[in-house]
Amino acid sequence: MTNLYEPIVAFQGELKAIRRDLHAHPELCFEEHRTSDTIARLLESWGIPVVRGLGKTGLVGVLEGKDTNGPAIGLRADMDALPLQELNSFAHASVHPGKMHACGHDGHCAMLLGAARYLAAHRDFSGTVYLIFQPAEEGEGGGRAMIEDGLFTRFPMEAVFGMHNWPGIPVGHFAVTPGPMMASSNDFRITVKGKGSHAALPHLGTDPVMIAVQIAQGLQTILTRNKKPIDTAVLSITQIHAGTTTNIVPDEAVMVGTVRTFTIEVLDLIESRMRDIAQGAALAYGAQVEVDFQRKYPPLVNHPGPTKFVTGVLQSLVGAERVDAQTEPTMGAEDFAFMLQEKPGCYVFIGNGDGAHREAGHGLGPCTLHNGSYDFNDELLPLGASFWVKLVNDWFAQPRSG
Ligand code: NI
Repeated sequence: MTNLYEPIVAFQGELKAIRRDLHAHPELCFEEHRTSDTIARLLESWGIPVVRGLGKTGLVGVLEGKDTNGPAIGLRADMDALPLQELNSFAHASVHPGKMHACGHDGHCAMLLGAARYLAAHRDFSGTVYLIFQPAEEGEGGGRAMIEDGLFTRFPMEAVFGMHNWPGIPVGHFAVTPGPMMASSNDFRITVKGKGSHAALPHLGTDPVMIAVQIAQGLQTILTRNKKPIDTAVLSITQIHAGTTTNIVPDEAVMVGTVRTFTIEVLDLIESRMRDIAQGAALAYGAQVEVDFQRKYPPLVNHPGPTKFVTGVLQSLVGAERVDAQTEPTMGAEDFAFMLQEKPGCYVFIGNGDGAHREAGHGLGPCTLHNGSYDFNDELLPLGASFWVKLVNDWFAQPRSG
């Protein structure tokens, strides 16, 4: 049972062509000029005015319903691709070496365009829909850049919604959960500054390698001894660099890694304890230490009201048995989190299937996101677009007080 909108099903071939064109021409963070132009031209051809240049290459389509004095909501898609060599050899494979739509943002754009085309032709909702096409989701914070350029002040809205495809969830299924759904993402670099010496005369130097090892061990105790056991967090040291050869104690040792949490409180605790442990070890052994801690993306936290609403929309679209309404959160990160810090809203996963949709000629390997043989599943186009349309129609049909 899936209640797709028939007119969308009728033009799904065109959506597929749009999606494959975007796939063939991937553009990296803040370079989405062709993508942005393509989207703007399509929106304008359907009678939707476009405001460009938010967050450099980002744009907002302004879709007015039958009563423009009504409330407004935002629907968001991301446009950027990844610096990855595509392994697929099908006709719509990337024409740009080393760049690839390996996260399905081509599909996210096409699904939102499908909804835009339907809604522009029907406009039987009382309010305004802002179609948000954001750049630079992959690590550069394009969502934050659009907010800084006035996304929510120039386009006041009462709620904002986002959607991402998810390989491994069956086609026709959705997953969502109230509260934290994706983690905060944070990078750190710890530099231990000792004093180099001959390796046979360590008493004449201060060995930064030994101190770095002490710090690395100590950092894991934050997770087991400082944060509450029921709070979730990851701290991974992913690189340790020091030295050049066997008989020299180096001057310096550098460690880098990532911290992931579901709340800012736990993040604050971890960052503060990391600084204390690093400084304490350096003091104990007579070295100096620098801790550079960069907060990249905050946790993505779905708001309870909008999430309950979205869950209802999904259940009536595909049936309750195909909606995982309390899905397990992931420690991955997503910059839609910035928008959910500013506005109520909800982010959902749409199942991309197990990869069997890919045409012959694709590369080896599983169909995970960020894999060189990934491809967005075109079967989702009418489903995702229908979800957006139903969300809009149901949102503005809600009873309102005052
Ligand atoms: Ni993505």
